[in-house]
Amino acid sequence: MANRQFHLSWFLSQGYGPKGWRGQWPGSDVARWMMPDLFLDLARGMERACFDYMIIEDSSMVPYQYKGSHDTYLQYAASTPKLDPAVLVTHLAQVTKHLGLIPTLSTSEYPPFLLARLVNTLDHTTEGRVGWNCVTSSNDGAAQNYGHDTQYPHEERYDRAEEFADLVTKLWDAWEPDAVVLDPKTPMFADGSKVHAVNHEGKYFKCRGPLNAPRSPQGRPVICQAGGSPRGQLFASRWADTIITDASNVAEMKQYRADVRARAAAAGRNPDHVKVLFLAQPLVDTTMEAARERRRLAREDANGHLDMQLSTMSRLTNIDFSQFALDEPLPELFTNGHKSSLAKWIGKTPREVALAQSTKAGIDFTGTVDHVAGMMQDIMEEVGGDGFLFFNGTFDRRYIIEICDGLVPELQRRGLTRTEYTHKTFKENLMAF
Ligand SMILES: Cc1cc2nc3c(=O)[nH]c(=O)nc-3n(C[C@H](O)[C@H](O)[C@H](O)COP(=O)(O)O)c2cc1C
Repeated sequence: MANRQFHLSWFLSQGYGPKGWRGQWPGSDVARWMMPDLFLDLARGMERACFDYMIIEDSSMVPYQYKGSHDTYLQYAASTPKLDPAVLVTHLAQVTKHLGLIPTLSTSEYPPFLLARLVNTLDHTTEGRVGWNCVTSSNDGAAQNYGHDTQYPHEERYDRAEEFADLVTKLWDAWEPDAVVLDPKTPMFADGSKVHAVNHEGKYFKCRGPLNAPRSPQGRPVICQAGGSPRGQLFASRWADTIITDASNVAEMKQYRADVRARAAAAGRNPDHVKVLFLAQPLVDTTMEAARERRRLAREDANGHLDMQLSTMSRLTNIDFSQFALDEPLPELFTNGHKSSLAKWIGKTPREVALAQSTKAGIDFTGTVDHVAGMMQDIMEEVGGDGFLFFNGTFDRRYIIEICDGLVPELQRRGLTRTEYTHKTFKENLMAF
């Protein structure tokens, strides 16, 4: 039987910010990280390799949860600085024709009308290639930049996000597809009977509508979500066209995908319309030994900079991890931030979590392209779909080439991933298999 194809995407971890500046291949333009050049090279490589999409991670604060200071974050460029992902999308669109582009735009920070308008505009200007990574912000530092002391309680964040997504999709649907007539003789630019106010009055938002722009090529651009907690998963299975997650072994992957598909079906959706993509950090080289040596060096670096990993854990949970002994198991803790992450850490030592965090360890995709492609093939066969979300928070141009011109061509040779884009819009390509 022929292999079922799976999807490929790339998570621009740590957003539109500096990448391999500490590595051996920083590029001679490393000081110009705020220019889009490295990301344009990535987008071109991804399109050569027929990836489905790139997600641009985002948050909007200089974190300070670790030791109550922003110093560690600034020292390592850890989750800061970050430029606006929506601006990067417009640049990436100029050098690609098919690649899906997903900025992260938070329901905790944008007003719904502004977000609906921005994504609609991006969908028009990319001719139907944009998505929305729909997150609820978890870091209190970000809340403090938008007039609040803390984020809303976790469950309420998702209640609010439900209303948000409902309003945004109503705004996207407010113009009927044939509302624009563009008849100079009548004259009639748009037919008023085909443009509808939304008159939304909910618990959190009030908005008259309609959007002041016509329906975009995809109408409802692709929605991406990464809720890991049960409440987050419920939200994702109602709204998302694609769900991204970080399962640490095959059994977890299978379970997560089965859960999400069951929840989607219970919400009256076709589970095949929710593509679940799993984080993976492949590291390939010409021999197994060379690849393993590079992974060893990466681990050694992480071990030498545990404060960087601990600061990330603090950022995700608003808990200061400098207060715990490095080699003693973590006690029961509460977070209003990333609940699903913290749940996996309790009982482990901070050192163990920090080391695993550095590579999102779990499945170790290290080796030759043949070896790693074979692993991916076996895992997808076992899990049943729907693909991988590659990430590397400190990637450089060498890494782009290794993945896009080394690993992916091997996946293609095996008939596992797409070799051409068969449809016009991002959503159609995503739903094609
Ligand atoms: C692959 C991946 C990407 C994510 N990207 C972002 C992001 O860009 N911005 C953000 O605020 N949260 C991001 N998150 C966090 C999720 O939105 C979510 O808060 C987290 O998975 C915890 O789940 P929960 O909210 O259900 O507890 C991401 C999570 C994952 C697994």
